[in-house]
Amino acid sequence: MAEINQMEKLVSLCKRRGFVFPSSEIYGGFAAIYDYGHYGTLLKNNIRDAWWKHMVQYRDDVVGLDSAIFMHPKTWVASGHVDSFDDPQIDCKKCKARMRADHILEVFGINADKQPLEFINAEIKKLKELGKLKCQACGSTDVTEAKRFSLMVKSNLGSPTDALSEENVVYLRPETCGGIYLEYKNTVDSTRVKLPFGIAQIGKAFRNEIVARQFIFRTREFEQMEMQYFLHPSIMKEKYEMWKKLRWDWYLEYGIAGENIQWHQHEKLAHYASEAYDVEYDFKSLGGFKEIEGVHARGNWDLSQHAKFSGVDLSYLDEKTGERFVPHIMETSVGLGRLFLMFLDKAYTEEEIKEGEVRTVLKLDKRLAPIKVAIFPLMKNKPELVSKAREIFDGLKMRWMCEFDDNGNVGKRYRRQDEIGTPYCVTVDFDSLEDGAVTVRDRDTMRQERIGIEKLESFFSGKFYN
Ligand code: GAP
Repeated sequence: MAEINQMEKLVSLCKRRGFVFPSSEIYGGFAAIYDYGHYGTLLKNNIRDAWWKHMVQYRDDVVGLDSAIFMHPKTWVASGHVDSFDDPQIDCKKCKARMRADHILEVFGINADKQPLEFINAEIKKLKELGKLKCQACGSTDVTEAKRFSLMVKSNLGSPTDALSEENVVYLRPETCGGIYLEYKNTVDSTRVKLPFGIAQIGKAFRNEIVARQFIFRTREFEQMEMQYFLHPSIMKEKYEMWKKLRWDWYLEYGIAGENIQWHQHEKLAHYASEAYDVEYDFKSLGGFKEIEGVHARGNWDLSQHAKFSGVDLSYLDEKTGERFVPHIMETSVGLGRLFLMFLDKAYTEEEIKEGEVRTVLKLDKRLAPIKVAIFPLMKNKPELVSKAREIFDGLKMRWMCEFDDNGNVGKRYRRQDEIGTPYCVTVDFDSLEDGAVTVRDRDTMRQERIGIEKLESFFSGKFYN
């Protein structure tokens, strides 16, 4: 029950404070699609930037890409997605609810991850005979066998008259890495990269998920941050371990404790993978460890398939050894929405500050916080306080995302800024007009100190990214 409450609290805070809204609410909502409001967009951008800095900016062996969502439909035939990117679905005959058969079997301790349909249906039959298999929505035992349900989202391009014909079908990419493979050759030809090197990209991906509950954890439209590292197979093991460590350290860097994450090794692998580990985070709001990120060794499957289907040679010539070969790939792949939920889950704190008074505070890493500094005039009807506060806001906003707030009493403003995770609040009071100093209040300790206005910028420097 505690876990449900925690999720409800996060969902409520996200809506109340403008982080995340259910999509199309005025039309009754649209399942498993979400919109990010002002603070949500800022937080998401900061997480995205934190990933990009470590994956691209701080390295000299990874370059960036922003490829289109639409790609030649053959891309997804070559990659195997059109034929086999699916999940096993069962339906309730009574209430028509759709369920993931592998998720239901997991409840009974049966690992059906990437197992063939025959295995899944044999297990389902056994549970049905024991009267144990019930619809998760209405409890009926009248459920269908499992069938394959494609996760690919189709659209169409072309003239309006034949737009719906099969030849015009295009797919909304189910993973962003497809674009990276198609631009591998252009990247090698246009930049000075030499193996081993990586291409990183952030962008939207789409999956027709059968069941998409759990707020933004599993959605039908989501953002992925992926890096594909191209290498000679002889160094796969070494680089795989290197990236596993780098990714693990990234979580620690942004305040996730080592005991709250773990590696999960996949026994059954996706059609392209030869090794796969997930980073799992222990969600309070989801009641335990759940996948956040995948680190996969993909062999040379991707480039070989695209070379075969396109007829273009995608091999690499190592100028030092003279060897020509199709590069192998190891990837890191993480959902931005999942990271967002993880950081919120970690940051959400309720603290009793005096008897009967609880404050809700998002203890986000300062670099990720949507607003870095909030600036208040003590009273909104005193023009001299307002103009001094505005002057400070106008100065600091050039470096950091700041907010000017004169609404309600200062206590209420602190509560509001705590709820959106603002690390510092600056209050201009009557003394400020005399001594040129302001009160700076720290979000986590709630301690207040007086700092000279001209020293504010250097006080905040180094606490966040610029
Ligand atoms: N290119 C490899 C790939 O896409 P994946 O395990 O299917 O691998 C990688 O997805 C990551 O993308 C996941 O660990 C998760 O963070 C995110 N992700 C996948 N499906 C998602 C969904 N429906 N909603 C939100 N995030 C998702």
